Amino acid sequence: MKIIHVSAECYPIAKVGGLADVVGALPKYQNTLGHDASVIMPFYNIPFTQNNAFEKVSDGIISMDEKDYDYSILKPTSLDLGFDIFLVHVPDVLFKEYVYSNDDTERFMAFQIAALTWLSTQEVFPDVVHCHDHHTGLVPFMMQQCHIFNSFKKIPTVLSIHNAQYQGWFSHDKIDLIPEFNREHTGLLDWYGNINPLASAIKCAWRVNTVSPSYMEELKENANHLESLLSHEAEKCIGILNGIDTDVWDTKTDSYLIENYDLKSVQSGKQANKKWLCDSFELDETKPLFAFIGRLVYEKGSDLFPEAFEQVLNNQDVSILLLGSGEQNTEERLLQLKEKYQGKFNAFIGYDEKLSHIIYAGADFLLMPSRVEPCGLNQMYSLRYGTIPVVRSIGGLKDTIVDVEDGGFGFTHEDTTVEQIVSTVSRARQLFEDQKEFKKITKQIMQIDHSWNRSAMAYIQMYKSITN
Ligand code: ADP
Ligand code: GLC
Repeated sequence: MKIIHVSAECYPIAKVGGLADVVGALPKYQNTLGHDASVIMPFYNIPFTQNNAFEKVSDGIISMDEKDYDYSILKPTSLDLGFDIFLVHVPDVLFKEYVYSNDDTERFMAFQIAALTWLSTQEVFPDVVHCHDHHTGLVPFMMQQCHIFNSFKKIPTVLSIHNAQYQGWFSHDKIDLIPEFNREHTGLLDWYGNINPLASAIKCAWRVNTVSPSYMEELKENANHLESLLSHEAEKCIGILNGIDTDVWDTKTDSYLIENYDLKSVQSGKQANKKWLCDSFELDETKPLFAFIGRLVYEKGSDLFPEAFEQVLNNQDVSILLLGSGEQNTEERLLQLKEKYQGKFNAFIGYDEKLSHIIYAGADFLLMPSRVEPCGLNQMYSLRYGTIPVVRSIGGLKDTIVDVEDGGFGFTHEDTTVEQIVSTVSRARQLFEDQKEFKKITKQIMQIDHSWNRSAMAYIQMYKSITN
């Protein structure tokens, strides 16, 4: 089956969050199942594109709002990802120093139009076009409705919702950005008086999935105003749990780690990584190390960190290390906390892929008190690296982490509150004191299989249900 993924992010070329990890791995696993999956993404002016060579495979012109723009399609010359990747270069609109900003409407419109325009020049059409999130949400509409893409009308489309909070909506004043279509069908674009790419994709795609089964259920109750639409389209909606790329995330070969390890050498291997972290961040390596990695935003519960961490650090003999960036107020408060609790708390405000790997390996526990978590990959990386997750039971976290009190291997709490975060950390710390049990669980979680194999197959089943 010929599958085209269309996405704003793909690891390692451009990564803001888990979307990149998914699009950078799922096609590879689909190819190992004997399919022909590839990715189309934007060509941004970012470090990866500046430091790697690309060759042009095609070029042309697109029209948007009565203006013409040159585009070209580029391919990396020496990058083996296990799938083909094509980058859409629209120098005048898309080629910026960032992935997302406040000019996303025009930029992702240009990306989607150029991607489809190029696809329409290909001799062999795809069997399915798979879009990810709102940045590519107008693809299903355009394939179905826009006159220039008439030849795509019968090609099935799939939408994966990685996060329904962000919908990419814009005013009808900008409708001319979309290539010509019968205006009687404008309703397929509209949601509550705006053009809403995510809502449009839910209406127009042949199948819709969320990145975990629980998140699909939760969206029917709370989806930033899309609840009724999702309930209405429920028959074509399904939840498919993300997997992880076990080639990239492998403690035996991960070149970012201070020391590699396997099941047999897990204790010494984790200790070497922990020591490096504690030396680098002035923490005490004899104490249980709790870590957080991620975006500092409301959905992740990070506004509660300063208060929760303060309570933990005042009353419990543990260390906390944080890697992340986001809301300015939270960042500032965390930096103050770092001054106040030197030797017990430290934070690296920023993005650092290498450091994230060492933390997954060297921490004892990973904190994820998310208010919303469509899937969450961190907890799966942490399991594989032998680091016990401490999570709020929601979305993908609910689907992957079972509390020790229920015979499981992690720590869960019901709500994202300071009180529950603090008391769950306390339960986890008690496990650390029982080193025999702690080490047993460490080994147990490393063996849980969250690789993409199963879910890659689930996507293929979904495609098969809509292709001949
Ligand atoms: P989300 O996509 O909502 O941010 P996920 O758990 O799906 O959450 O994926 C987050 C991904 O981004 C993981 O690969 C995580 O390791 C990575 N990540 C998040 N913040 C940082 C950071 N500050 N430095 C390095 N990696 C990060
Ligand atoms: C989104 C979600 C996250 C999910 C990721 C990949 O960024 O916030 O929970 O793991 O997409 O699907």
